[in-house]
Amino acid sequence: MAANAGSNQRRFIAFILATGFVALALYVFYHWLEPSLRDYLSARMTGRPVTEDNLLKIPKLILWSLLAFLGVRALNTILFDFVFRIRRGFEAPTLVRNVFSLIAFTVLFVLIFNRIYTEINLGALFTTSAIFGVIIGLALQDTLGNFFAGISLHADRPFQVGDVIVVGQQKHTGVVESITWRAIKIRTFQNHIVLVSNSLAAREAIEVAPRDNLNARLVVFSTIYTDSPAKTIHVVREAVRDADNVSDKITPIVRVRGLGDSSIDWEIKYWLDDYAKYNDTDALVRQRVWYALRRNGLTFAFPTRTVHLERSVPLRPITAEDQIADRLSAVDIFSPLSTDELRQLAKATAGHVFAPGETLIRAGEEGSSMFVVHSGRVAVQVADRAGPRTVAVLTEGNFFGEMALFTGAPRTANVVAMEETEVLEIGHDAMKHIFDTNPSLAESISWTIAERQADLAKGSAESAQTSLHETAGLLASIKRFFGLH
Ligand code: CMP
Repeated sequence: MAANAGSNQRRFIAFILATGFVALALYVFYHWLEPSLRDYLSARMTGRPVTEDNLLKIPKLILWSLLAFLGVRALNTILFDFVFRIRRGFEAPTLVRNVFSLIAFTVLFVLIFNRIYTEINLGALFTTSAIFGVIIGLALQDTLGNFFAGISLHADRPFQVGDVIVVGQQKHTGVVESITWRAIKIRTFQNHIVLVSNSLAAREAIEVAPRDNLNARLVVFSTIYTDSPAKTIHVVREAVRDADNVSDKITPIVRVRGLGDSSIDWEIKYWLDDYAKYNDTDALVRQRVWYALRRNGLTFAFPTRTVHLERSVPLRPITAEDQIADRLSAVDIFSPLSTDELRQLAKATAGHVFAPGETLIRAGEEGSSMFVVHSGRVAVQVADRAGPRTVAVLTEGNFFGEMALFTGAPRTANVVAMEETEVLEIGHDAMKHIFDTNPSLAESISWTIAERQADLAKGSAESAQTSLHETAGLLASIKRFFGLH
């Protein structure tokens, strides 16, 4: 800041000195030099086509042009350094300043020229000189191309100083430092300067991450297949969201981007407060992921190949058999079963894991198995005019899907996982086996079904009461369905 102020002061002093000098030169020229030079020249140049008057006009033109140049610079500084910056809040683009200076100076120069050389028509001189035009055109082909591309860039305003851009086939990436009449100057993340000519930038695609925009980044990582996706999402999202420079305006998204040969491939999408620091933030995010996975017993994937030997045994339960037997013993309808029967039932169950929001059962479908919630929670939902209505939330040890299994009717409701949920599936055959040895089971199940049916009916138009009569009807149909006596 101080260095800047110092250099401004020096520039100001230099400007005052230069202006003073030119003004003094003009004064001296008009008052002293001109009369004596005129006498001197007129004595030597009699009879020549070039008169002394024309020669004397050259220094005048030079001195006045210098004064005009200084005046334009002063005006430029006042307009853009003070007025523009105060009113718009940011520095005026160099190109605009240069174009302003160029036009102002040209206008002043033409005025001065016309004042001094009243007999020469400058406009006609330019317009009639075709060769002059061709020469200028050819010589300035590239420069003019850049110049006009620069003007169109400014008119378009696709980006501003301070934005991060990726430009050109070489994918130059960096923060825009200035846009001049010739090139865009960007500072790369290695602190190098890259100059991309305006005409090239106008031809190529430019990717812009505006400074005042919530720009996002994608960071990828992989975990092994046995890690739970729901847990991974939760753990990683929480770890990333409070990292430095990760915007708290939008919660980061963690999602599966692919199922690889040896890993579940993830991507984290997060939004940055300051996009220009994305390299550091990406690195921090990866670091957070490492710690979060480590803390939560999740594992980064490494190249592995799992050989699955197919066995004729159907689905293996996810959870160990005695754990399943324990869970089943806690289910009220299975309380009459002996330890052996529970073990047998456990053997015949299959465990399934569902992600939050996944539908386990759809209303109206056929169903020939029931489920016990081993871990997690599910919602039982029926479709209403206003949308899905939750009639019950079932947690560990609760069962569902028994209605279709025992009555043969279609599923009465949707069942949706509310969080990561593991369920144990019990099929028709396993149940029939148990009914054979425990006839009382059919009765307790028919009570549950009747109650649930009543619950379902409560929400709909025709209300129903659970009655002994109905339960008896259900019991009969269960027995019929399972071929029991
Ligand atoms: P089923 O009809 O086979 O499929 C949907 C399941 O949702 C149903 O069996 C029951 O297990 C369950 N269900 C229906 N209504 C209720 C309720 N009111 N309370 C608890 N569970 C229910």
